Amino acid sequence: MKDHLVIFDTTLRDGEQSPGASMTKEEKIRIAKQLEKLQVDVIEAGFPAASQGDFESVQAVASVVKDSTICGLARAVENDIVKAGEAIKPAASGRIHTFIATSPIHMEKKLKMSPDEVVDRAIWAVKRARDFTDDVEFSPEDAGRSDIDFLCRIIEAVIDAGATTINIPDTVGYNLPHQFGNLFNELIERIPNSDKAIFSAHCHNDLGLAAANSLAAVRNGARQIECTINGLGERAGNTALEEVVMAVKTRQDIFTVDTRINTQEILAASRLVSNITGFPVQPNKAIVGANAFAHESGIHQDGVLKHRETYEIMRAEDVGWSTNKMVMGKHSGRNAFKTRLEELGIEFETEQELNEAFVRFKELADRKHEIYDEDLQSLVTDNNIQRVENCYRLVSLKVSTETGESPQADVTLWVDGNEASALSTGSGVVDATFKAIESLVESGSSLLLYSVSNVTNGTDSLGETSVRLEKGGRIVNGQGSDTDIVTASAKAYINALNKLESDMNKAHPQAPV
Ligand code: KIV
Ligand code: ZN
Repeated sequence: MKDHLVIFDTTLRDGEQSPGASMTKEEKIRIAKQLEKLQVDVIEAGFPAASQGDFESVQAVASVVKDSTICGLARAVENDIVKAGEAIKPAASGRIHTFIATSPIHMEKKLKMSPDEVVDRAIWAVKRARDFTDDVEFSPEDAGRSDIDFLCRIIEAVIDAGATTINIPDTVGYNLPHQFGNLFNELIERIPNSDKAIFSAHCHNDLGLAAANSLAAVRNGARQIECTINGLGERAGNTALEEVVMAVKTRQDIFTVDTRINTQEILAASRLVSNITGFPVQPNKAIVGANAFAHESGIHQDGVLKHRETYEIMRAEDVGWSTNKMVMGKHSGRNAFKTRLEELGIEFETEQELNEAFVRFKELADRKHEIYDEDLQSLVTDNNIQRVENCYRLVSLKVSTETGESPQADVTLWVDGNEASALSTGSGVVDATFKAIESLVESGSSLLLYSVSNVTNGTDSLGETSVRLEKGGRIVNGQGSDTDIVTASAKAYINALNKLESDMNKAHPQAPV
């Protein structure tokens, strides 16, 4: 019998800490349902003390998900622990994850606390969290740069206080695989009560080593990996779930552990997270990139056709690649539409929401004959974006382009309830459209990123666009989709502008308190 490796997904918490990846409650619920289908053991649904919205999101996820443990993050302070405890209350199984920094630099410069004070606070936090649940995880933040003797001392103390999982974060992605593996080996060997807790790895990808470090930890006794879909996360991101899960599955000759992940749901999860956050997946990304199973050279293709294992170590269908099939079309009815969405884990709170989405589906089916699951996901995301009460809304867009002439865009928007129009030229039609919108809105924001990707193949595919804006240090991402990429771009730009307008003040869990 192999040991069970707990897969702890933190897409909705650490993933959401990526600049501009902030998600609404509805979006978090959609992702959480897909994570449940994927059979992750634990979903870290957010940081409930960050804002009322974050609290409600964690509570909502705890209410709808039944087959995964729901976890809330809390700093080692009273308010955070109470908020996390309240938010996870509806869960069938709930966990509180509390943490405090333990590296000399963090204790001295960020916390301004002595090591003794940090140990006392950690013990207090774990005991306080146990008032709400028996399932308490403790992380010594920046463990990757902490003193090993101090780590042994604090971890022994928090296990005695009731922590059931000890998570070792390489917060700044500094460790190398052999070093991180040795750290687990030594901690588990030296801490007298280490057998009373599950040890967990939480790695960041600053040196591109997050997956390698996590797997080294598993080889040295870790029995939980913290990870995110597509490796989403702060800076260079977190360990990618799909990479570690498929490494463990593919190399069962090496690993003495196994997961309960339904790997066929990996691609759907990847696409959903990319669609909702607007963070595209690079084509050469392991497991979920468009080229991950594509063979360019004739020699490879020939080899794969003769005998697949010559060049393939995994089967594309095992991670969900072969499920791209036509599911609906122009003649599909409302019931078929509703049923397929339910199969995809999408439910509407009201009949009106369903009706609005169905109208948009019919409009899409008029322009695009074959509708795939990916189109439905994209349509629902776009529908949700358009439904929100917004300051700005696209009324109409007319563009013209001709060889030798400057491209032009004529845009009409609702701006706080009034219609306003502007005409602009630009280096291309998208540039002209953005300039026209900005002349109406006068946001003063800077465009950090603009990207377009096609949802399915073919020139009639929906184009998904992502726009990242920055203003006064605040970064937001906007998304839009349409079969016309200029319209999709305008929608994404307007969505980002609306986010800049909205009051989304939330506390960052790792900022100094
Ligand atoms: O990277 C980190 O240290 C974290 C902690 C909050 C666990 O995300
Ligand atoms: Zn982290």
